Amino acid sequence: MLQIKNLSKNYEDLKVLEQIDLEIESNKTTVIIGPSGSGKTTLLRCLNLLAIPDIGEIDLNGVSLTFDPNQPLQKRKILDYRKKTGMVFQSFHLFSHRTVIENIMEGPVTVLKKGKADAMAEGMALLKKVGLEDKANQYPRQLSGGQQQRVAIARALAMKPEVLLFDEPTSALDPELEIEVLEIIRALAKEHYTIVIVTHKMTFAKEVGDNIIFLENGRILKQGSYAELYHSGNERINRFLTTLQ
Ligand SMILES: Nc1ncnc2c1ncn2[C@@H]1O[C@H](COP(=O)(O)OP(=O)(O)OP(=O)(O)O)[C@@H](O)[C@H]1O
Ligand SMILES: [Mg+2]
Repeated sequence: MLQIKNLSKNYEDLKVLEQIDLEIESNKTTVIIGPSGSGKTTLLRCLNLLAIPDIGEIDLNGVSLTFDPNQPLQKRKILDYRKKTGMVFQSFHLFSHRTVIENIMEGPVTVLKKGKADAMAEGMALLKKVGLEDKANQYPRQLSGGQQQRVAIARALAMKPEVLLFDEPTSALDPELEIEVLEIIRALAKEHYTIVIVTHKMTFAKEVGDNIIFLENGRILKQGSYAELYHSGNERINRFLTTLQ
């Protein structure tokens, strides 16, 4: 379980996240929704320490980190924690000068110190999982956006993370490419990976989301199943759930 306690994050005078308390269950899919600027990306970035919370606590399966502006975390602790999380970005962030398989092997070889042969074999198996084993030796620019995102997912999986974080993974994609990426995430959800996903795809959120978090102005306005949110009587949430597909 990923437990977040009293987490706040400011950018200078801007309060972006305020006293977030949240439990992210293992082997479930948690969906984060909310208006633009509500802090969804910042929350995900705090969950893999790309952004360091100002105060609060994060506990990932029993390993706990406490944030205190007067006691910055050691780099080692940040890196140790970060390698237990896998992040998939809106805009893929692949290494453009590396082939697909090199992109996937990079983390296991340099961070996990895995042997190249093992990393390659595991990387190929992951490429197969995302339906791209024939693209192993191509460069990202030779792939469609949907294919690049599937490589990015394989790259995240290669680290065997305890939690997978997706920030609007399909928002940069054309609708037909979006489908192939959602298909992969749907399969991962069915395999009971621990997933946290920011998305505006409400049909998808309804289908895969075990818990849906509605963020507004850096706070959790409501959380629960899609049905619970839908019947919460909050007009703003309802509009959100029903106008976005
Ligand atoms: N690195 C940063 N420096 C300063 N302000 C930031 C930074 N990152 C985010 N913000 C601000 O924090 C607020 C929340 O941003 P965030 O990107 O988390 O929103 P979001 O919910 O992901 O929005 P969207 O749906 O548009 O992606 C915004 O007001 C944004 O301008
Ligand atoms: Mg965002």
